[in-house]
Amino acid sequence: MERLDKILAMQGSSSRKDVKEMIRKGRVAVNGTVVKESSLKIGEEDSVTLDGVHLSLKKHIYLMLNKPQGVVSASDSDSDTTVVDLVPDEFYRSGLFPAGRLDKDTVGFVLITDDGDFAHRILSPKNHIVKTYEAKLAAPLSNEDRLMLQNGITLSDGTTLKEAKVEISEDGDTPTVKIQICEGKYHQIKRMFAAAGNKVIYLKRTAMGGLRLDPSLPEGKCREISPEELLKIESGKFFSDFEQ
Ligand code: URA
Repeated sequence: MERLDKILAMQGSSSRKDVKEMIRKGRVAVNGTVVKESSLKIGEEDSVTLDGVHLSLKKHIYLMLNKPQGVVSASDSDSDTTVVDLVPDEFYRSGLFPAGRLDKDTVGFVLITDDGDFAHRILSPKNHIVKTYEAKLAAPLSNEDRLMLQNGITLSDGTTLKEAKVEISEDGDTPTVKIQICEGKYHQIKRMFAAAGNKVIYLKRTAMGGLRLDPSLPEGKCREISPEELLKIESGKFFSDFEQ
């Protein structure tokens, strides 16, 4: 149990002094009743609203965003809409950042959190958490090139890319491929296929570890990730055969 003013100051970007003022003005309700005492002790099970908007009282928050094209994977930007700008008020708190970046034109699963330790664990290549992507290519992919990319390659600038899994899910002149990688180097997937003389014309991240992007989540929307789902992310350490 913590003081109401302390908990509210931890959630948002307001100072403790501003929070006390909000409470004094009757803008805060606990379990449906307006409270005016900043020192009231509350716990995670209590429901707290500010101006009628529900606030999450958890120590950390973990959100799944279905990122649209044109949005940058950053916490703030002077010129572009960021993934954090898409977080609705009910989930917003200070310190949110994307755990891993997608390019501006890449769509799909971005995890937004304020938990730096968790982000480090799922992003560190040492932990082998697999990220799954779906890509559309500009030209057919030969089996030879597919196997070359799977085995890991060294790019012309000397960057080495570890082994990956590459599977053609729809063959043809502009095939759709599924890719799994355990590292997140700059433009990694686009550079992989460029090294094979091909070009990625559409890219979507469909899973992080063992957690798939929720198919019912519309582009531009986010939802909370449950504790069970967080475990699924951390347990996704092996390339799968894409049977999901
Ligand atoms: N690889 C890329 O090239 N771009 C992304 O956004 C993610 C992985």
